[in-house]
Amino acid sequence: MPTDVETRPQIHPFLRERWSSRLFDPGHEITEGDFDQLLEAARWAPSAGNSQPWAFLVLRRGEPAHGRFVATLSRGNSGWVPTASAVLVSLYRAGDDEDPSLTYSDYAAYDLGQAVAMLTVQAQTMGLGVHQFAGFDHEAVTEAFGVPPAWRVTTGIAIGRFDPAAPADDSLRERDLRPRVRRPLDEFVFTEAFGHPRRRAEALD
Ligand SMILES: Cc1cc2nc3c(=O)[nH]c(=O)nc-3n(C[C@H](O)[C@H](O)[C@H](O)COP(=O)(O)O)c2cc1C
Repeated sequence: MPTDVETRPQIHPFLRERWSSRLFDPGHEITEGDFDQLLEAARWAPSAGNSQPWAFLVLRRGEPAHGRFVATLSRGNSGWVPTASAVLVSLYRAGDDEDPSLTYSDYAAYDLGQAVAMLTVQAQTMGLGVHQFAGFDHEAVTEAFGVPPAWRVTTGIAIGRFDPAAPADDSLRERDLRPRVRRPLDEFVFTEAFGHPRRRAEALD
């Protein structure tokens, strides 16, 4: 994959090779069986007290509901999200159904993130690319899709097949193939106390 990275130590190729593509094959279609598999992976995510506080809207490119979602995209995302085969909208349960002002679970957003991570890795195993995004009008989506008050629209999840030859302007193509970078482990992994570095098994050059 063009944006593969070198990791030390090795991690599973499905994790290493994953990236958030913006170049999607405009002719590719996701089957209902693919959706079933992706959502089944999300379903088996761990969650606080097995509360499973997630929900997803499935919007396939070309269908009217997909068009309603596309109309809410930010300018930066409107150039590539519509070309993906589908968009899932992720939601978490924030409040109680009876009284939406009561918090449902302090960990609901965390749990939704885990479910999406599982779906993302499952997609990678199926040769599908996933690009999560927050740049859209959440209020407009809440209204357009009849989301109940206890639920929070959270991210869009564009899914499709990576296509390096997909029609795209140069800046989009450049952004897609930019080398992927991360903070070093030492910056965010501690022991004994926050900020106290942990010694790694393998010293880095
Ligand atoms: C909650 C969330 C919101 C994001 N919002 C956007 C977005 O609006 N537009 C976009 O192009 N990418 C968005 N991304 C993708 C990130 O920019 C991307 O995951 C990050 O730069 C790391 O790149 P990689 O996934 O290719 O490793 C979002 C990712 C997450 C998890």
